[in-house]
Amino acid sequence: MIARMSNTLKKYSTMTTITEAKKLAAHRAVDLHVNSGNLVGIGSGSTVVYAIERLAERVEKEKLQVKCVPTSFQARQLIIKHKLPLTDLDINPELDVCIDGADEVDSNLNLIKGGGGCLLQEKIVASCSKKLIIVADYSKNSQKLGDQYKKGIPVEVSPMAYVPIQNRIQKLHGGTVDLRMAVLKAGPVVTDNGNFILDWKEYNQNVDWNKINSELLSIPGVVETGLFINMASKAYFGMTDGSVKVQE
Ligand code: A5P
Repeated sequence: MIARMSNTLKKYSTMTTITEAKKLAAHRAVDLHVNSGNLVGIGSGSTVVYAIERLAERVEKEKLQVKCVPTSFQARQLIIKHKLPLTDLDINPELDVCIDGADEVDSNLNLIKGGGGCLLQEKIVASCSKKLIIVADYSKNSQKLGDQYKKGIPVEVSPMAYVPIQNRIQKLHGGTVDLRMAVLKAGPVVTDNGNFILDWKEYNQNVDWNKINSELLSIPGVVETGLFINMASKAYFGMTDGSVKVQE
């Protein structure tokens, strides 16, 4: 009983630390990288929630003039909730900065993204931004992709092609490729763009990710991958000791 309570307490304190770490990184990045007049890409996930909170705070206090482009349904809802000006790539195709989370960041600033299924719009918005700034907690800070993030590399695919793509990735590159299933709904996850997500696990970590990314993208039916290679300018990690580590 006591052991169970102490385990629960331990788990709770770890979660609190991770939450604090996300907040630290998000606040630092927004403070350093968003200026008045900026067009800002708003990423997706749990860390971005703190980034947008901070942005809304700065807009209120400092009267910053910004316009925001969302990378997902979630990001759009956050922008609306915080009453920030919403725009899109039709109106503003060139952005100053995009602030987004990541599932893992390697020592070369290559990323795995798409744990929340928003990789397609995230990659489009990031590609339209002068800089992509990553905000994350210490658990995302890795040497190699796959060191810590074990849920696999997400690949967004056209629903009709998911089985041939699964087979082809496994045959060409090894590992296992799973169709991501929904929680609280029968069947697969359907992305904001009406596609499915495959998660590629147990892959070889010692590869040229740029080459792998291009090979995956050349398979008919692959819409986008969660490999963000040479895209990020900087990553901010909230650390356990309350500091923020910067990687560039
Ligand atoms: C969304 O699809 C992802 O790319 C997120 O940006 C990524 O999963 C990071 O999310 P957290 O901030 O919740 O870790």
